[in-house]
Amino acid sequence: MEMWQRLVLRHFPLVLDIGGDVLICVVSVPLQRVSRWRETVAAPAGRSRVIDDYADRWALVTGASSGIGAEFARVLAARGMHLILTARRENLLKGLAEELDTRHGTRTEIFVGDLSDPDEPKRLFDEIASRGIQVELLINNAGFGFVGTIDETDADRMQQLIRLNMAALTALTYLYLPGMTERGHGGIINVASVAAFQPVAYMPVYSAGKAYVLHFSEALWAEARDKGVTIMALCPGTTSTEFFDVAGVSNWLKKQRSHSTEYVVRKSLKALEKKRQYVIPGLANYLLSLGVRLAPRKMVVKETMKYFRPRKNKQGGGKDDLPDQETKSDA
Ligand SMILES: NC(=O)c1ccc[n+]([C@@H]2O[C@H](COP(=O)([O-])OP(=O)(O)OC[C@H]3O[C@@H](n4cnc5c(N)ncnc54)[C@H](OP(=O)(O)O)[C@@H]3O)[C@@H](O)[C@H]2O)c1
Repeated sequence: MEMWQRLVLRHFPLVLDIGGDVLICVVSVPLQRVSRWRETVAAPAGRSRVIDDYADRWALVTGASSGIGAEFARVLAARGMHLILTARRENLLKGLAEELDTRHGTRTEIFVGDLSDPDEPKRLFDEIASRGIQVELLINNAGFGFVGTIDETDADRMQQLIRLNMAALTALTYLYLPGMTERGHGGIINVASVAAFQPVAYMPVYSAGKAYVLHFSEALWAEARDKGVTIMALCPGTTSTEFFDVAGVSNWLKKQRSHSTEYVVRKSLKALEKKRQYVIPGLANYLLSLGVRLAPRKMVVKETMKYFRPRKNKQGGGKDDLPDQETKSDA
């Protein structure tokens, strides 16, 4: 191949029209890497499974009392996996355990605890080990968000968010990863968000935390993949759960298109089988994540202000008074 042909193929120009200004970017694609990626990462599911056999193995799901975590529990139990469920609301965990027992006859262990307590991840790990359980699949899902202006943001609540969304997830990953790499199999799904791909105004701590989860998981994916362990970041867009009630914007789901937890979990497990380093359920969410990478950072962050900017109404307004607009996703 001629030198000029190689240059064009590997570094092709991309022209973007941003509000009348034309921006020319050069996108570099290392072709050999692309073909190697297709052979390994995107290998068909049947060729090399992440979990040799789901049945009769144990999965630990954090934040299993509702939403995405509860759905993971249902789907994994349907595949014959035994489950360790953890969250703070004991009644919901017990109800779910009964449901799984009735429907699938699998074993379920419950641990009630607050993972934003710095000692809790190790306590959980020790307790699980003392019951002689080996965790084959870890789903680091527990998390919450907060939407609000600078004045509305409570510093202690943000520390709690950091401890739960980032510190507990990191601790559990490093507690379970060495055992998995030693055995040569296992999987970890760390729940990030499409908010991981850009800063989001009015939820700066949450979006920065999810960027951490994405980068942390991808870096470990690269390290662990040759050891038979897959670590994947799950980056959902808006999903119908209690998340937005907890975040203080309960009417968000009424105004946005959202995915079901069933869809998110199905896409996630399919991607794990393909040993992907991250997955974004939904084409619109995926395209959005690509778009923000190409657009100027200032423009991106200013654009996010529209999502959660408080709007005054006749009653005086508040952060629940969200703007009426067609935002595709964010959480
Ligand atoms: N819903 C979305 O649109 C969306 C989008 C992108 C990413 N996500 C992420 O998905 C994950 C799951 O959220 P979800 O949407 O399923 O919301 P959810 O229904 O509110 O579930 C959150 C789960 O985390 C648990 N949790 C919260 N605080 C905890 C604490 N201190 N200690 C232990 N467990 C705690 C909750 O259980 P207890 O209250 O019983 O403790 C609950 O089981 C989160 O990491 C979230 O950031 C959600």
